[in-house]
Formats: sequence, C-alpha cells, structure tokens
Amino acid sequence: MDTKKPILISGIQPSGQLHLGNYLGALKNFVELQNSGKYRCYFFVADLHSLTEDYEPKEKPKQVLDLALSYLAAGIDPKKSTIFVQSAIPAHAELTWILNIITPLGELRRMTQFKEKSKTGAESANVGLFDYPVLMAADILLYGAKYVPVGEDQLQHLELTRTLARKFNAKFPARAGGGKTFVEPQSLLTKVPRLMSLDDPTKKMSKSRPAGCLFLDDSPAAIREKLARATTDSGKEVRYAPDTKPGISNLLKIHEALSSEALQLTVARYKNKGYAEFKRDLAETVIKALAPFQAKKKTLKAPAFACLPAEALAQAGLRTGRQNSKLKAILAAGNKKANAVAEKKLAEVKERVGLF
Ligand code: TRP
Repeated sequence: MDTKKPILISGIQPSGQLHLGNYLGALKNFVELQNSGKYRCYFFVADLHSLTEDYEPKEKPKQVLDLALSYLAAGIDPKKSTIFVQSAIPAHAELTWILNIITPLGELRRMTQFKEKSKTGAESANVGLFDYPVLMAADILLYGAKYVPVGEDQLQHLELTRTLARKFNAKFPARAGGGKTFVEPQSLLTKVPRLMSLDDPTKKMSKSRPAGCLFLDDSPAAIREKLARATTDSGKEVRYAPDTKPGISNLLKIHEALSSEALQLTVARYKNKGYAEFKRDLAETVIKALAPFQAKKKTLKAPAFACLPAEALAQAGLRTGRQNSKLKAILAAGNKKANAVAEKKLAEVKERVGLF
C-alpha cells in the first residue's frame, strides 16, 4: 500500500437490514472512494456503537457478519481496503476512555443525535448513547484518518472529533522532535438523495418503518409488491413536485438514483401513462440495480466458499465452521491489520498522557 496516500475511514452500525437509502448514502460512496485509488481506506462494522440501542444479543453476531458481507457484495475489496470489526480492536474502547477525560460534558449534551435518541428522557438514556460521539472520535483518530465520508447527520460528531484532536495535541504535546499525536479529520460529504418512506412519503426511509423500505436483500416479488403499494398522490400525472406530490416525487428520485436517466426525461416518458405503469417499471429498475449486489452476496455465502484457510482462522482464534468461513477469514485478516495500526497509536497516546 502506498503510504503517502491519505487515510480514509468510515463505519456503519450493524443493526438490521440495509435499505436503499443506506446503499446510496454510504456503501456505494465507499466503493467509489475505494476505487478512486486516492486513499488508504478502512471500513468497519461499528458494533460497539450499535449496542447503545435496544437489541437482541442472539441477533448481533448475525448482523455483524451480514453487514460485513454487504460491504463485500457492494464491492469493497479486501485487497484494496481494510475491513474490520470495531469490537475486535480493544484500542477503540481504551482510547474512548482517555478522550472522555478531555471531553466537556456540555459538548456532548448539545449533540443533536443524543437529544433525539434520548427524547424519552435524557436521565434514563444510557451513558453509552451519551458517549457515542467520543467512541466515534476514537474510531477515527486511532487510524490517523484525514477523510471521513459521512452523512450530514454525523457532521456534528466529526466537528467534535476535530475539537478533541486539537485539544489533545495541545494538552499533551509530544517530546521534542515528535509530531502531533492526532490528525484533524475532514468530512467528505456526498450529495445523496433523501429517500422517503414508500408508505408515508413525508417520513425518511428508515428501517423502523419496514413497509416503507426497499431493503437491499428484498426479493423481486417483495420489491414489486412494495412499489405497487407505495403511497401515491391524488391525480394521476407522473410529475416531480415534492410539495404537492411527495409520493410520486420520491419514486421519481429513486428512479433517478438507480438509472442513468435524468429525472425530466423520465417524466416526459411517462406523460399520459399514469402511476401504475411507472411503478411497475420502477420495480424492474430496482430489481435490476440490486441484482449484482444480491448475486454477489449469495456467492459469498455459498458453501463453495467454505473451503477455508484453516490456519488463518485458527490464528485468529476462530473455530472452523463451514458457514461464512471465507468471510471470517477476511475479517480476521482485516482485524489483524487494523489492530496493529490502532495499538501503535494507542501506545503513543498512553505515553503522552502518562500511562505505562
Ligand atoms: N455514527 C456513524 C453513523 O451512524 C457510524 C460510525 C461510527 C462512524 N464510527 C464512525 C462513521 C467513524 C464514520 C467514522 O453513521
């Protein structure tokens, strides 16, 4: 790997199925950034973050592996990028603790995401939810990342990361000759379409409203049915007017995001054709767009891939199981690589703050 290229890092929480909004907003973008060849990329499964919300312990390992599988199926290539699992790298939690010491309570209290997620009462919200942005800062700072592709909702967390980096560097300067401990990261914001829920186009597409989501793993039949049922508006003209026709406008946006056709051309094509036909055609567009992802995921899951490099698994302390063993080997390798980088940074941090 070219050590001169800037480092880029991002993660997604494993908490249920990914939907089209996640794909267009994160995964697709990760793959493009990787393939640009301009960065040394790290992509991880933010499982520690995902524990801050209600979950079923039995489901978590499956969710972690499924997200990693989705990374690969979308085109993240372990030969080009480091793919790892957050909880497999102890340094994330350790650095979080150290950063906690320089994080003012007030900064965390004004985080929009915390305020939203603790709506039912900040007093009963778990401390992990409160500390979420500090863990995120640790994720980023451990790897010396210069760039962090995130959605708009994470910009405030990134700003905090920058503040903490600056504060740490000032408060715990290196000995003469040593460089700064942390790099101040920048966000890489991409313009992503804001997809709305199919069953209520005034709400964002979100896994908390499954009926309104197009999931990346949905079967063609499910996609056809969800789109046939999608809420549309009064009238029957296929036209883009988000304020007065939010339903059909959302479907037009989905079409635009997945096809190479400009929105106005689609509108022109469906002049005099009505909603039903557009919805039927859109279903086929979605099915076609997801097909390569779904096919790749299936292949990666197939038992044919279970012919495992047993030593690699044993080395990583994993049992040799047939299911997903190739995937586990990829993660074991990624974890090992990430751990070496993170441990090195943590050792530097510990020395600077006065720990053995
Ligand atoms: N909080 C991010 C989200 O929900 C996920 C995340 C955790 C992340 N750690 C990160 C993203 C570090 C970028 C870098 O989208």
